[in-house]
Amino acid sequence: MEEVRNKYVAIKSHVNGAPTESDFEIKSETISLTIIGSEIEAIVKNVLVSVDPYQLNRMKKQSSSQAAINFASAIIPGHAIDSYGVGRVVASGRADLEKGELVVGLLSWGDYTLIQKGRLLNKLDPMGLPLPHHVGALGFSGLTAYGGFYEVCKPKKGESVFVSAASGSVGSLVGQYAKLFGCRVIGCAGTQNKVDLLKEKLGFDDAFNYKEEMDLNSALKRYFPEGIDIYFDNVGGAMLEAAVANMNQFGRVAVCGAISEYTGNGKRAALQMLDVIYKRITIQGFLAADYLKCYADFIEMTTKFLRTGKMQSLNDISCGVESVPRAFIGLFSGDNIGKKIVQIADDE
Ligand SMILES: NC(=O)c1ccc[n+]([C@@H]2O[C@H](COP(=O)([O-])OP(=O)(O)OC[C@H]3O[C@@H](n4cnc5c(N)ncnc54)[C@H](OP(=O)(O)O)[C@@H]3O)[C@@H](O)[C@H]2O)c1
Repeated sequence: MEEVRNKYVAIKSHVNGAPTESDFEIKSETISLTIIGSEIEAIVKNVLVSVDPYQLNRMKKQSSSQAAINFASAIIPGHAIDSYGVGRVVASGRADLEKGELVVGLLSWGDYTLIQKGRLLNKLDPMGLPLPHHVGALGFSGLTAYGGFYEVCKPKKGESVFVSAASGSVGSLVGQYAKLFGCRVIGCAGTQNKVDLLKEKLGFDDAFNYKEEMDLNSALKRYFPEGIDIYFDNVGGAMLEAAVANMNQFGRVAVCGAISEYTGNGKRAALQMLDVIYKRITIQGFLAADYLKCYADFIEMTTKFLRTGKMQSLNDISCGVESVPRAFIGLFSGDNIGKKIVQIADDE
């Protein structure tokens, strides 16, 4: 019976503010690569794992998100942390999966994942596209951007779209979908380098560095003299307040995330409710999982855009299990450009 060492990332205790390296530990255990009993239905060698801001809300002692959906359930200190990713099957008790096959699904921040019965795991056909694309643009970030933009924002050609955290995983895809759809798109991001990338590589009509703006309300007035029709919100806080103040009548706000509020250090959004009422603004929160019904259309459209070069998939890759805590912490200080991924192992 072959045995291997499995290193994995765990939190030492609940994380209630901004995460730091000392909140994490790298644990190690010996696991068998043979399936014994009926609890485990496959063992996967992890290749690429996703690093996402929502995991911080799972690490808190308490968060309203934890009871909403299985994906967001509380992380137990000391335990392996599940995360979307791509890997290779090393042992399978499932009739539809064979050793050596490439899979995508809910893996973990570690070398191996023991797949319990019912856990999300599907065969992956990379369709000739690089594996990181299947974690980002063709993974949950992509589905979030697609469902949020087409289904929640209900865009019309020619409308003005504002995207925050626009050089991030979801934001960079939303901006590109919106441009390809025929909207005017402006994004904000936290460095000049990111702003240049939005304009020069991703085709945004304009972009600005929100950290250099003293007054977000007047910044948005300057960039949207005719008002905002759609705001795709990744950050919440003061930017959400300013966007609502600049929305046009019957504008739509897709509330995807509120990263500025996750660490507890930022301002919580306090909206001008009279703007919401008198401008008849729709503000809708949503989860990517709500749009699994669009999955086939999303994959068809996005693979076509990626193959024809109409859309770019930005992937920001670190290497090794040990790099996961640093990669995760960096999301909250804007270290990443595009989808943050950790390559756990080479795909052999
Ligand atoms: N609803 C859903 O189903 C769903 C699914 C996926 C993601 N989300 C949410 O969508 C948002 C984006 O997620 P992502 O995976 O694409 O992450 P991401 O944008 O790739 O990474 C996070 C980015 O947020 C920005 N940021 C960090 N702290 C900030 C702050 N205090 N104020 C403003 N910006 C800040 C940083 O960029 P800058 O340099 O620009 O500051 C950072 O690079 C998150 O809020 C996430 O929770 C929701």
